[in-house]
Amino acid sequence: MAYVNIEVRTEAGKVGIVQLNRPKQLNALNNELMDELGAALKAFDADAAIGCMIVTGSEKAFAAGADIGAMASYSFADVYKGDYITRNWETIRSIRKPVIAAVSGFALGGGCELAMMCDFIIAADNAKFGQPEIKLGIIPGAGGTQRLPRAVGKSKAMDMALTARMMDAAEAERSGLVSRVVAPDKLMDEALAAALTICEFSQIAVMAAKESINRSFESSLSDGVMFERRMFHATFATTDQKEGMDAFVNKRKAQFRHQ
Ligand code: HXC
Repeated sequence: MAYVNIEVRTEAGKVGIVQLNRPKQLNALNNELMDELGAALKAFDADAAIGCMIVTGSEKAFAAGADIGAMASYSFADVYKGDYITRNWETIRSIRKPVIAAVSGFALGGGCELAMMCDFIIAADNAKFGQPEIKLGIIPGAGGTQRLPRAVGKSKAMDMALTARMMDAAEAERSGLVSRVVAPDKLMDEALAAALTICEFSQIAVMAAKESINRSFESSLSDGVMFERRMFHATFATTDQKEGMDAFVNKRKAQFRHQ
């Protein structure tokens, strides 16, 4: 693949890592890159041995947005008819195993939106998040106006989208956009440790927790709580539930078989 590097780390579990690889363009996102990213994540999702995925960029940029040069000459008819830019952006939403964004440097425009499509974001302390599309005469097009307010609230989302101001890692953590902030040279260690922790748990429970949390953004509280309850009930049909509870009761480490 030309635009992404793919790696599998095997320790206690298997973690699939996709590194965006257009460093000279600060990982500007084009259709080819998004196709490769989607294909890599889908392949990891289908691989029974993979328990968690990480999407990352370079130290200077997670991704500085959609490729402005590629978009510059497009007309409304081009982008609307071809669903250009957006057609392959949401593949990541169909991934059922957890996807962690490990963000260093710029995560702007589509880069910020891509990070927000992941399940959680671990940031290096040099990370900068922003939705600067307004400077280009456009607005966010891959969920920025929807996911950012859900993550940081209306006021900060409006501030970022209307003034193009960037949010640094400390503010992003304070605001709930990212879950953890670490030194840049510790970013991958931290993301891998989180991923390996997830790999040790029941894959069924992990997928059910992800599905249930995602449901909270799509439903009323009572519908979401009912969905969670049924998923919770369903976990009692797994051998992993028997194993997890037996291990606790007998003071031993659980060995989940993802069944
Ligand atoms: C294409 C980009 C790019 C982008 C950077 N580059 N961002 N190319 N698309 N989004 C290129 C530059 O042109 C330059 O190429 C090289 O990467 C290095 O960038 P510099 O600007 O020289 O670096 P620096 O001075 O450090 O500034 C970094 C930066 C700035 C602040 C991130 O590059 C910047 O403002 N980029 C644009 C950010 C942006 O507007 N993103 C939103 C895009 S719209 P050369 O060849 O000159 O060395 C979007 C819509 C999403 O994302 C819609 C989704 C459906």
